[in-house]
Amino acid sequence: MNTGLAAVILAAGKGTRMKSAAPKVLHPICGQPMLRYPIAAAQQAGFEQIAVVVGHQAEMVTQAFSGEKVHWVEQTEQLGTGHALLCAAEALPGFTGTLLLLCGDVPLLQADILEQVLQYHKNEKATVTVLTAEMQDPTGYGRIIRNQEQVMKIVEEKDATEDQRRINEINTGTYLFDAEFVFSALKNLKTDNAQGEYYLTDIVAAAVSAGKKTRGVGIPDATQMMGINDRRQLAEAEAVMRWHINSELMLSGVSMIDPTTVYVDSTVEIGPDTVLHPNVQLHGATKIGSNCIIETGVVVVDSTVADGAHLKAGSAIEESQLGPDCKIGPMAHLRPGTVLVGSNKIGNFVETKKAVMGEGAQSSHLTYIGDAEVGKN
Ligand code: UD1
Ligand code: MG
Repeated sequence: MNTGLAAVILAAGKGTRMKSAAPKVLHPICGQPMLRYPIAAAQQAGFEQIAVVVGHQAEMVTQAFSGEKVHWVEQTEQLGTGHALLCAAEALPGFTGTLLLLCGDVPLLQADILEQVLQYHKNEKATVTVLTAEMQDPTGYGRIIRNQEQVMKIVEEKDATEDQRRINEINTGTYLFDAEFVFSALKNLKTDNAQGEYYLTDIVAAAVSAGKKTRGVGIPDATQMMGINDRRQLAEAEAVMRWHINSELMLSGVSMIDPTTVYVDSTVEIGPDTVLHPNVQLHGATKIGSNCIIETGVVVVDSTVADGAHLKAGSAIEESQLGPDCKIGPMAHLRPGTVLVGSNKIGNFVETKKAVMGEGAQSSHLTYIGDAEVGKN
């Protein structure tokens, strides 16, 4: 028997409203493709096996995540969320444990919420637990129809009566299932609904008919459940995540004069007592040490900057390594392969590329140093 915890992430949809040549789940949020976040949340919450259902531009998605330890499942025709989960069954043969279902376009959901809901699902011995949220404007979402703690069914907006549309408790599209029940019940889904699709949401009524426990857990912070359908929502989600990243950094000892204008990817590390001025961007695999000053307009990409650096206004640093106590700029350009051993000064309008500068070596202004080695001092 194959028990334990497994997750399925749905990401086969087209994402029409993004108006993009790229698949929706590859659009970045704070430097990482959207799909990275639900995968990470499921992993952090202890779901060992993860299957991702892809369809539209499947190859682009699987290529972008080639290093990721997940099972890829292709849903060639998008016949609905119920059908998508059924496709994933083949990647989890014989699995009879607890199954988490996430959507690839819900990037803000945190692992600790999943852990709490998993605990609840187990304590209640539920067959289906739906994560729900109270929405002031529930338009477009499936509505939760309850009989006290038992969720009787989920009704899609397009199939709902006027009374049902007034219900504010909505289906977030995230669930925990008893895998054995759901994989067998999915085979009986019908498409007799307004959209002619296999609705995963119909599993709830099926479980009720089979005499099972179905539960709904309200998520207090509904922004975590936000789904990305267009580029406005993408920007909103990025703003939420950016604030989260900046908050964590400030709590760990990094100063930001105006955190609303500081753009740090979720992959970046920064040491304590470093000060970030307004309009700083730190991207990719960047590590900044402690006691650094990073002035306005500085952009750092995939670089390591050791303790005590002063990066002055308007400097750009790409794929470079800076030892301790370097002074850069204003308006300096360090291009890939620049290595500053330590205590270096690179002044205004200096450009370096594949240049190694020994300890204390300086270049104060208006210089190009490329494919070069410069000795100490
Ligand atoms: C779904 C829920 C709705 C819920 C809402 C939350 C159903 C029937 N409805 O509606 O109750 O309130 O999510 O956001 O499930 N997908 C596939 N293959 C498919 C269809 C969809 O992989 O054949 C994926 C999409 O890429 C997306 C997710 O499943 O990531 C949800 O699909 P979507 O079409 O957005 O469902 P909604 O209509 O929003
Ligand atoms: Mg949707």
